Amino acid sequence: MLGIVSEELARIVEGEVPVPEPLPVTRLLARVDAGDDPVLGSFLDLAGVLPWTQTRVYPDALPAEFIRNYGYVRLLGPGGGAVVHSERVALGVGVWGAGLHYPRHAHPAEEAYHVLAGKVRFRGAGGVSRELSPGTPGDCARNRPEEPHELWFGAPGGIEKPDPEMYPPCVLAWAWVGEIGVDARLV
Ligand SMILES: [Fe+2]
Repeated sequence: MLGIVSEELARIVEGEVPVPEPLPVTRLLARVDAGDDPVLGSFLDLAGVLPWTQTRVYPDALPAEFIRNYGYVRLLGPGGGAVVHSERVALGVGVWGAGLHYPRHAHPAEEAYHVLAGKVRFRGAGGVSRELSPGTPGDCARNRPEEPHELWFGAPGGIEKPDPEMYPPCVLAWAWVGEIGVDARLV
């Protein structure tokens, strides 16, 4: 799967960049330290001019606190909202405030998540959960098409119910292949 993603990235040509649309979640990025990660550093530098979005049905389906502290940028993908158009691969970077729980959801695309900042717990098919941390290239949580999965976004020190305003958010890169034109849905 990741072979398809890297092949598509190598093929990219510059296109028309969508209009920037910051969301409330971007205020949390001031607390993120990119360290020596060039990918995260570049993303933080560009965050203010990127087209932020949310899964269309989520503002009606998830609590206001979640919506205020979550959003993503589609760097590559189908439709008009992506920075670069692709019909084969969708790839983005998302931000979730510390303490949020992204409830069980599923989508027909196959997916890989890679953490760029923060501590994330991922629970995939079969109820197996694992901790994801930044720093290891290629360390991904994977889920196959339609496999339900959910994520918890932590704070430094394992604080139980962190206030998203007080701690750095988690930043994740995700990639989809397969049926990439269908949004995620809560299950
Ligand atoms: Fe997913």
